Amino acid sequence: MIETFRRQTAFIKACIQDVLKPGDSAIDATVGTGEDTVFLAECVGSAGHVYGFDIQRAAIEEAKALAKQQGVLERITWLCDGHEHMDTYPDIVHNPKIGAVTFNLGYWPDGDPAVTTQPETTLEALEQSAELLRSGGILTVCAYSHLTGQAEKEKIEAWIQNLGRGYDAYSFEVKNHRKAPTAFIVLKK
Ligand SMILES: C[S@@+](CC[C@H](N)C(=O)[O-])C[C@H]1O[C@@H](n2cnc3c(N)ncnc32)[C@H](O)[C@@H]1O
Repeated sequence: MIETFRRQTAFIKACIQDVLKPGDSAIDATVGTGEDTVFLAECVGSAGHVYGFDIQRAAIEEAKALAKQQGVLERITWLCDGHEHMDTYPDIVHNPKIGAVTFNLGYWPDGDPAVTTQPETTLEALEQSAELLRSGGILTVCAYSHLTGQAEKEKIEAWIQNLGRGYDAYSFEVKNHRKAPTAFIVLKK
């Protein structure tokens, strides 16, 4: 258990694994390399489904190749669009089984660091995600302190503190490391 504390991404995955069940649906709001998308597809199993958003076509193509290699391609719908538009997709809005939505903020490691998540659109997408989750579902965010990341992190911190009683919201970070990433976890009651 202590080992999962050492990396925010490992900690987040352990939390998702606790909640997401075979047959559930999930959303990867920031596909990037596709590692998280594949992880979600493995959690939901062959009866489940994952929607993956990224604004970069090249990232989606790389992620698709990984999903194919891992044998989970058929479980994933790829959406080359901003996550702030997730509430415009009828398949998502009318899906009662969304057990997890995950955000790994920042930029695609294989691409241009200038193409990064932005505080305003991230906040819009978080609001939508909290609505879309089924009861008992989990919303996770891994937020960093690079350039625009710090402002994004502060906005998320303020947002989760004001979530209503229908949710329990947590944040985790290493307190004695400067610029450590923060894991935000929101559980819907
Ligand atoms: C840190 S990477 C994600 C890492 C990924 N989860 C993985 O497993 O490799 C952040 C991704 O967010 C994408 N992104 C930036 N703004 C976005 C937006 N508005 N909607 C969806 N994706 C966005 C970037 O293109 C980038 O690929």
